[in-house]
Amino acid sequence: MLLARRLEEIEPFKVMELMARANELSTLGHDVIHLEVGEPDFATPQPIVDEAKRVLSGGMTKYTDARGTPELRKAISLYYAKRFNVDIETDRIFVTAGASGGLLLLIGLLVNSGENLLLADPGYPCNRNFLSNYEAEGRLVPVSPDDNYQLTAKLVTTWWNEQTRGVLVASPSNPTGSVLSVKELHEIYASVKARDGVLLVDEIYQGVSEKQTNVHTALGIGDDLFVINSFSKFFGMTGWRLGWVVVPKECSPDLEKLAQNLFICPSAIAQHAALSAFSESAMKILEQQRVEFSQRRKFLVPALRELGFKIPKDPEGAFYVYCGLPDEVEDAEDFCARLLETEFVAITPGTDFGFHQAERKVRISFARNLDQLEEAVTRIARALR
Ligand SMILES: Cc1ncc(COP(=O)(O)O)c(C=O)c1O
Repeated sequence: MLLARRLEEIEPFKVMELMARANELSTLGHDVIHLEVGEPDFATPQPIVDEAKRVLSGGMTKYTDARGTPELRKAISLYYAKRFNVDIETDRIFVTAGASGGLLLLIGLLVNSGENLLLADPGYPCNRNFLSNYEAEGRLVPVSPDDNYQLTAKLVTTWWNEQTRGVLVASPSNPTGSVLSVKELHEIYASVKARDGVLLVDEIYQGVSEKQTNVHTALGIGDDLFVINSFSKFFGMTGWRLGWVVVPKECSPDLEKLAQNLFICPSAIAQHAALSAFSESAMKILEQQRVEFSQRRKFLVPALRELGFKIPKDPEGAFYVYCGLPDEVEDAEDFCARLLETEFVAITPGTDFGFHQAERKVRISFARNLDQLEEAVTRIARALR
């Protein structure tokens, strides 16, 4: 079958393949520990589930406004006001099919074919494939612990070229868990603006943070940048496929046009249920989960260091540790495959997240409970012997 040429530029999302093999091994009866996953192990908070049941019985299952229901957009606006003290008009908020739907919409809105966005390497791998899907490009900028694994204003200046349309950062980052401070965001923003570009900030891991004081939004910096967020991670709603974007007001009519055509609307059931995500009872559960992630991080990071994994800086957010391999291990993909096949521990090779020294890196997720993490560390130690 003759397929579109753009498919040649789009790579598979390796972690999904790895997860499929890990699931296959589970089906065969092996006790697989899933540290490759990018989703919280906690169930969706009960108030959200209860609301979904009510909504379903009430028949609230029809198409909604392409931008999302007015109630949910209002709730998101209130969340920004209450938690971050920023005033976001509901006109600027679009509810989307996860952050993925939001990213696809924003790239469609902003990037012409042949143009590029600067992306950190390592970074979320789908971003460059989203861009390829629009015949644009992710211009990968190698980042290291010296830059806190994030783009900096200086890197933006160095890597900007004729085709660069803007910059997409994620804070906290996947796979490194590094967080951009408000000051660093300001500097990147200024550098992008000086070049008439656009700044997109993916805040999907907002709230999954070591310190609550570290939780901020780029929306406080200016009203002409683009923010992507999601109910997937902090709110524990990965499979519900719900997220949102905030855009400059002048872009809303065009984005609405795109959203109508591409998606008609996000899931109605998920939207109605997500109203409960901001309730006090859900927030209380989510705060407990944040604390538990922090406890897991505190166990896992030193335990991995003890085994020889190189973690120059503790992750500050998200639920991943991005580490250099111990000296005796040569290749990340081989190691991950061996660990899965012999010890039934699934972790993700660095090559899923970019190219910069990726074959010597792995990402280990701690979206699993402490008992499982302890057992995984024992098994990893065995695999290293
Ligand atoms: C940085 C980042 N952005 C976006 C996404 C997409 O998430 P979703 O579409 O589930 O909201 C992910 C998923 O892992 C991610 O890590």
